[in-house]
Amino acid sequence: MRASTTLSLSLLLSCLPLIAQTQLAATPPMGWNSWNHFAEHVTDADVRSATDSLVSTGMRDAGYVYVNVDDTWQGKRDAQGVLHPNERFPDMKALGDYIHSKGMKFGIYSSPGAQTCGHYEGSLGYEEQDAKMYAGWGVDFLKYDLCSFGENMLKAEAEHPSDPNAAKNLMIAAYKKMGDALKATGRPILYSLCQYGVDQPWKWGPELGANMWRTTDDIDDSYGRMISIGFAQAGLSKYAGPGHWNDPDMLEVGNGKMTEDEYKTHMSLWVILASPLLAGNDLTKMTDADKSILMNKEAIAIDQDSLGKQGDRLYESGDLDVWTKPLSGGRVAVGLFNRSWSVRDVSVDLREIGFKSGGSVRDVWKQADLGHRSGVFTSRIPKHGVTLIIVGK
Ligand code: GLA
Repeated sequence: MRASTTLSLSLLLSCLPLIAQTQLAATPPMGWNSWNHFAEHVTDADVRSATDSLVSTGMRDAGYVYVNVDDTWQGKRDAQGVLHPNERFPDMKALGDYIHSKGMKFGIYSSPGAQTCGHYEGSLGYEEQDAKMYAGWGVDFLKYDLCSFGENMLKAEAEHPSDPNAAKNLMIAAYKKMGDALKATGRPILYSLCQYGVDQPWKWGPELGANMWRTTDDIDDSYGRMISIGFAQAGLSKYAGPGHWNDPDMLEVGNGKMTEDEYKTHMSLWVILASPLLAGNDLTKMTDADKSILMNKEAIAIDQDSLGKQGDRLYESGDLDVWTKPLSGGRVAVGLFNRSWSVRDVSVDLREIGFKSGGSVRDVWKQADLGHRSGVFTSRIPKHGVTLIIVGK
């Protein structure tokens, strides 16, 4: 073999993990997760009926393909260290088979600590064994949640007072350990880090093979919490891209405590952020408004755009905020947000976002073409509302 052939072969081999990581999440992952609605009460039957609803509502076909069981599925480990599910989950392999039979993917949850946040069994010391078991069950997605591993970090800090990175390094090693264990199974398993943005996971997550990482603490079904998380994402766009995404937490659309305008703000901001879109509501009880928000094809297409660029803030003035996301074909998505308690006009100068002589404007929520516009585009927006537009040549 010639030296140059050997070199290009070894270059190709060294790129393979990166190619695999990118393919697994070429666009932000989409699906459903049990936590936001069912929390610790989730059962096998709930997950199966969510699976059925993803099909019957059209959500699967709109792109929501991961069906993720969050915390509290775990039972006890036996003498061989095998972790069994608890009585609410009689057969995880059968559940995975059911999800796969409907054309979707199976997600699961664990922790690098001894215990999960819900005080169920974590994976500490059993990483390889658990990863193999997940692969055997047909798992396609693992959310790995820091939880009680925080105690190990505090201990490391106390034991190494002169090392400012002792806790951080221990945490990264724990996430690497599970990442390596997942890779060693040979099954492509999307790896989702959940450690609430501690120590900037966007800077070290990609090297561990992580496909997404939480950037914040938990969301809840309130406008205040949702916007405090969403608008705090400014400045993170450069860290996201095909295969590796910032995750400002799961969706609350449909959980009932925000208004329709507020849920539109939630969805608009998350798609501009190229965020993973994991619905967190009871899919068996969706209103028409919930469906139209979660399944607006044009909003989803902004999130899933092939360019794979996360959007960012263009400017902020008091309660008014304008965010843009570059899209394929030279188009730009613009979110004009009104966080105030009254109707307000919010504007964007199209010349500032690359449209010197104007461009065609499409209103995503109204599903209407607004024609060719130039100069300053202004929209009258209700309290807590949004106008989401796509501007093209
Ligand atoms: C943490 C995570 C949540 C959820 C719960 C489960 O709080 O951030 O998303 O997984 O744990 O206990």
